[in-house]
Amino acid sequence: MSASLSVLKSNPRAAWDVERIRADFPILKLQVNGKSLVFLDNAASSQMPQPVIDRWVRYQSSQHANIHRAVHYLSETATAEYESARRKAQAFLNAGEEREIIFTSGTTDGINLVAHGYGRKFIGEGDEIILTTLEHHSNIVPWQMVAQEKGAKIRVVPVNDRGELLLDEYRKLFTPRTRLVGVTHVSNALGTINPVREMIAFAHEHGVPVLVDGAQAVPHLKVDVRELDCDFYAFSGHKLCGPTGVGVFYGKAALLEKMQPFKGGGDMILSVTFEKTTYNVIPHKFEAGTPPISQAIALGAALDYLTAIGMERICAHETDLLDYATQQVNRLSGVRIIGTAERKAAVLSFAVDGVHPHDVGTLLNEEGVAIRTGHHCAQPVMQRFKVPATSRASFAFYNTMPDVDALVAAIRKVQKVFG
Ligand code: ALA
Repeated sequence: MSASLSVLKSNPRAAWDVERIRADFPILKLQVNGKSLVFLDNAASSQMPQPVIDRWVRYQSSQHANIHRAVHYLSETATAEYESARRKAQAFLNAGEEREIIFTSGTTDGINLVAHGYGRKFIGEGDEIILTTLEHHSNIVPWQMVAQEKGAKIRVVPVNDRGELLLDEYRKLFTPRTRLVGVTHVSNALGTINPVREMIAFAHEHGVPVLVDGAQAVPHLKVDVRELDCDFYAFSGHKLCGPTGVGVFYGKAALLEKMQPFKGGGDMILSVTFEKTTYNVIPHKFEAGTPPISQAIALGAALDYLTAIGMERICAHETDLLDYATQQVNRLSGVRIIGTAERKAAVLSFAVDGVHPHDVGTLLNEEGVAIRTGHHCAQPVMQRFKVPATSRASFAFYNTMPDVDALVAAIRKVQKVFG
């Protein structure tokens, strides 16, 4: 265990010491363009701490084999570690049952699993799917595919000028043909935290299941799927200190049982003849082929790491960072924050007057400051705010107030260069 974690674990009231946390992240010591790296692109992918890197290396160097397939020592060890990672994901989300957790390749894969496994079976001609303006393309395109194939319609919840969903409009969208709601828990482009619990409760009054895209929520908030009462919840490993190529998908067991498998292959079957295949029980029915074994095990270590720090502490620190950054950026004339919701996670999208976001990103990089610029795979959000793209700084718990100062100083420099 890292030094910072042993302090925090032994004394949950220990003061937040961001420098000790940062010491766990080797990549944060990098110099970029002769400057200390200021990494503010965490919404795209966060960095990995040493205990997670070590877990990955230990697995690869002493535990690796394929799982669920053989009785030899390594296969049994890898199987036990993989299934233990599933229990960690179950605990992290407070899911009721282990079999409700499916390892995927990421959030997009989880959403596709619902679209193809649930949507194509239970959505028909004339049916309606409710999505929101704040969705990432990954929670739009799979539903368009289903809607086109089945002759269904997509209805969209609008947002106000702050980037908050209009709940009255949401309620009005329900009809007897509504079959599913898909909503992002936190907007990747604006940072808005959506009132998903209320939205789920309303949908359930109409007997409609809800899929929550949790990719941007799990790194910042404590998520409890039973408290939310969501039917499906998906997130990615690489946005919360784990590796790429793995994600977690939660589904209520009763719904998973009724769904079609989305992918066919090894391990998802009980028996196969050329005439007929009998599918395996959940969760295996949805894990065709060799799953992301090493990634899931490393993700388990990442969940341990975050749990030891405490999601409440993480949330509190990131709220301080966001408040400070919002205050400092608001002081800059000629810079406009896009997305000013009352409840936000640590994402700050902004536009610098007269400067294209790609130029902002390029000049910030010269100062060692990494942000994302573009449409953030959320073009409907850009259309709603009438911008082609934004510059987006997104924070993680290892960021500091001096990181915010570096961002603000770099934006001032951009303004100077562009006169
Ligand atoms: N969806 C990721 C982002 O918002 C890649 O940057």
